[in-house]
Amino acid sequence: MMKGSVLMYLQLATVALLALACSLAFASDPSPLQDFCVAVDKYDSAVFVNGKFCKDPKDVKAEDFFRPGLNVAGDTSGRQGSNVTAVTVNELPGLNTLGISLARIDFAPYGQNPPHTHPRGTEVLFVLEGTLYVGFVTSNGDGNRLFTKVLNAGDVFVFPVGLVHFQLNIGKSNAIAFAGLSSQNPGVITIADAVFGSEPPINPDVLSKAFQVDKNLVEYLQKLF
Ligand SMILES: *[C@@H]1O[C@H](CO)[C@@H](O)[C@H](O)[C@H]1NC(C)=O
Repeated sequence: MMKGSVLMYLQLATVALLALACSLAFASDPSPLQDFCVAVDKYDSAVFVNGKFCKDPKDVKAEDFFRPGLNVAGDTSGRQGSNVTAVTVNELPGLNTLGISLARIDFAPYGQNPPHTHPRGTEVLFVLEGTLYVGFVTSNGDGNRLFTKVLNAGDVFVFPVGLVHFQLNIGKSNAIAFAGLSSQNPGVITIADAVFGSEPPINPDVLSKAFQVDKNLVEYLQKLF
């Protein structure tokens, strides 16, 4: 009897603590929905809120929630042999504030979606057609561990938010995948473009030391991107 009531008390205390933890989590600031949102004093010179302004509900139409065309393959003739057709809040205004978006990714034979990260979104990838070698790398504190998998039609793989990941078509035919992302604007940072293709370029001394390679190689890569 005594033992039972102590247990029940402990369970109640646990529930109360959990509820407190949840209410604390909800009391925090909203997550950023874009790379930055610098404050302005006068709102007549403002361009964005964190995300997008909302349309007057009485002017909202079905078209605001609609986007056709994801049956059409993107052009994969570029250097990487892949093409991402994104459906974010920029393409589908009805996604504003809903924390979700979608992409179609097409791959030519041996084409790849090169190493990149989504700073604001976890990605869950579904392979419709073809065979992809995919992977992601954990953060420095977790030892930069690489997790990879070969995916076939019907397979699903998840890339946790912020981690560097890639997809390579290892098949002789085209591949098609669809990705759900946990942000209306997940963002993309392609590692090679950000590091070697920034505008203006990063000082080659920085990259030479960071990658432990000759400055000539860095300058060659900077020209390439
Ligand atoms: C992706 O495909 C679209 C439609 O074919 C094309 O307009 C766009 O330039 C392609 N993007 C890249 C990076 O090749």
